[in-house]
Amino acid sequence: MTTPVGRLVAERPGRSEVFERFGIDYCCQGRTPLGEACSARGLDEDAVMLALAEADAQPVSPDEPDYGSMTTAQLIDHIVQVHHGFLWQELAPLSVLAHRVAAAHKDAHPELTKLAQAYDFLREDIEAHMKKEEEMLFPALRELSSGRTLPHFFQGDLHVPLLVLEGDHERVEQSLRFFRTTTGGYVAPADACEAWRALLVRLHRMERDLHRHVHLENEILHQRARELTRR
Ligand SMILES: [Fe+2]
Ligand SMILES: [Fe+2]
Repeated sequence: MTTPVGRLVAERPGRSEVFERFGIDYCCQGRTPLGEACSARGLDEDAVMLALAEADAQPVSPDEPDYGSMTTAQLIDHIVQVHHGFLWQELAPLSVLAHRVAAAHKDAHPELTKLAQAYDFLREDIEAHMKKEEEMLFPALRELSSGRTLPHFFQGDLHVPLLVLEGDHERVEQSLRFFRTTTGGYVAPADACEAWRALLVRLHRMERDLHRHVHLENEILHQRARELTRR
């Protein structure tokens, strides 16, 4: 199938669960055709298609927003309230937990120190990134979508700012891949204490939330921004 994986999720958000399960990146690599994404991971495309068909047969949850029918302002509100809200709340306490777990187990598990350091890198990176979105891109898109012009400092064009933000998203994805490899797919080893298990559960939840978040921005919001500036 040649449909890009990001578009498949934009059409039916429930399909993201299938891609999570098969380890297919539908956010930063969202423009990759499904067939190509499957062969890159050594997956049987028919098995993935079957799982997608099963996901499509499930009734759409009433809690699942219909992103396509949202206005740009509503989509931004959703991203800020749901995804940025989650990160602003979770990033700092999870750092404390990552360092506490690393300090307790560093002798037997030195990889936990690397994990805590990588987490701090992600945190710093994503906090700066969200500020750029909340203070610059999102207000500019609200202006544009209500028929006004871009603030002066964009010089009439969003092409470069969008590429910069998408580059930030790729770095976030690299950090998430490092977390996944370092934790063996967020699986707790037999000697893991409760705090370590909680860290893995919360990191895994952050991974899934970030995938949704980046997908909404790359595939839906940024595409709308490009259309708005082409007018
Ligand atoms: Fe964001
Ligand atoms: Fe973003």
